Amino acid sequence: MADRRQILRMGALTAGAVIAGQAGSAVPAFATPPARTPGQTRPLVIGHRGASGYRPEHTLAAYELAARMGADYIEPDLVSTKDHVLVARHENEISTTTDVASRPEFAGRQTTKIVDGVSFTGWFTEDFTLAELKTLRAVERLPKLRQHSTVFNGLFEVPTLQEILDLQDRLCRELRREIGVCPETKHPLYFQSIGLDLETPLAAALRHNGLNKPNSPVFVQSFDNSNLRDLRTRHKLRVPLAYLVQSPAQVTPAALAELATYANGIGPVKDLVIPRKADGTLGTATSLVADAHAAGLVVYPWTFRAENQFLPADYRSSSDTAAHGRAIDEQIAYLKAGVDGLFTDNPDIGALARTLWSA
Ligand code: G3P
Ligand code: CA
Repeated sequence: MADRRQILRMGALTAGAVIAGQAGSAVPAFATPPARTPGQTRPLVIGHRGASGYRPEHTLAAYELAARMGADYIEPDLVSTKDHVLVARHENEISTTTDVASRPEFAGRQTTKIVDGVSFTGWFTEDFTLAELKTLRAVERLPKLRQHSTVFNGLFEVPTLQEILDLQDRLCRELRREIGVCPETKHPLYFQSIGLDLETPLAAALRHNGLNKPNSPVFVQSFDNSNLRDLRTRHKLRVPLAYLVQSPAQVTPAALAELATYANGIGPVKDLVIPRKADGTLGTATSLVADAHAAGLVVYPWTFRAENQFLPADYRSSSDTAAHGRAIDEQIAYLKAGVDGLFTDNPDIGALARTLWSA
């Protein structure tokens, strides 16, 4: 497996690769898609939970569609099963993204838990073996906004990380270009506390698939920077790491400089890059991109979605929250602000925005 991947990357995909990041940095730099001209990097289009604007999120169908639409990376959020297998779900509570609530055989598994300080009632991945979880089927998380996606309810399984890496491998061959994977560890401290740490099987999976190299088409993300440190030091991950941030206090120049000692990028909520004004319209860019670049960090904001509900007021097409608005223009505004990539539920729009921006 490792050799096959290596040959693929070396043979077909590395010719135009450009390494972004701090010269002489001790941490690996992000590999970017081929540049249009030597020395120029190209922002990444990252399929957020797959092409989750068009298929139920975190399914192989959603990831595959993302790649076919032009995503450079596909993004699995990771949680653990009872038998310590990593699977892709945004939360360990799965009643909003699977049909578990309608399965009488699992009615007794419904329970209430405190996860990272928040109480949830439902069904939890860590209470299901992989075999049990595989009997469930994914459903659309946002059925009112994404009614078109509900036609796929009941069709797709919850995928394992290994199945996603196998899909990545197949799509790289078929599409004849590099498709990256950027796993996110979800609730890592909680999973450590119940004896199902995410880090050990994640590091093992990357090694097993020949993907724990600084130039592997992989980066790992977390909202927990201690988790990223742990991955870098104890688990010896060599791939780039990205810290997901939501507050200005996390991205001061001092904080960014410290982060750059073990990580390579930040994934900020998009309002930290361009905030909205009080009236909901898009404001002007902050200094975050420049500050991060000065620290040698790349910037991948989230989450870009086409529906009016998620767009700034001046980019909406109507008062219909489910209708698509001027998402291409919104993403171009962020590309103009200098971001290095975009997490988007609509990779086709991301790819088109990048093309128009770079023309
Ligand atoms: O990882 C980037 C973005 O996905 C973080 O938000 O909640 O969608 O995982 P979330
Ligand atoms: Ca995520």
